[in-house]
Amino acid sequence: MARILIVYSTTDGHTLRICDRLREFIEPLGHQVTLVPVAEAADGQLENYDKIVVGASIRYGKHRPAVVDFIERNAGLLNRKPSAFFSVSVVARKPAKNQPHTNPYVRKLLRRIAWRPREVGVFAGKIDYPRYGAIDRMVIRFIMLLTGGPTDPRTVVEFTDWEKVDAFGGLIAKL
Ligand SMILES: Cc1cc2nc3c(=O)[nH]c(=O)nc-3n(C[C@H](O)[C@H](O)[C@H](O)COP(=O)(O)O)c2cc1C
Repeated sequence: MARILIVYSTTDGHTLRICDRLREFIEPLGHQVTLVPVAEAADGQLENYDKIVVGASIRYGKHRPAVVDFIERNAGLLNRKPSAFFSVSVVARKPAKNQPHTNPYVRKLLRRIAWRPREVGVFAGKIDYPRYGAIDRMVIRFIMLLTGGPTDPRTVVEFTDWEKVDAFGGLIAKL
């Protein structure tokens, strides 16, 4: 049995839902999964886990600075342990941008950090216009207009391929 820590960063909760799904997939395989938001992830606790996963969503072209700081602070330890990273964005709904080497945000992050996760996942997120504030809604609708996505302000749509999430859970279990 491995003790697996998933450190996550979410704004509207979708990355946490992906973490929950990973836990539901991995725990029946006999491992123990602990989810911790990045703001509460104490560097000292990392040594208590056999494997570490970091998951983060994209907002306005970037993973949250707290995630990048966490990774940079702990890069040495992350490189020593079996580890994985996943990124959540709506651009990843596009087949041409849903792999680590084709997703612009993941490519940019991996160029910037010293951590080399053994597995990298790219998942499409969710659009929930009714939940957004007026400015965010307007900006996202404009981006969707440019990229051929939904623009109706009543749209709530989940692009996530849950089987792909499960497959990633299988890779984490095997790390
Ligand atoms: C204000 C805002 C900005 C966003 N910016 C981007 C972006 O630049 N690129 C992208 O692919 N997705 C972008 N998204 C989509 C999110 O990554 C997607 O909604 C994801 O599911 C959010 O996950 P979370 O709820 O865990 O934060 C944005 C969403 C919001 C609400």
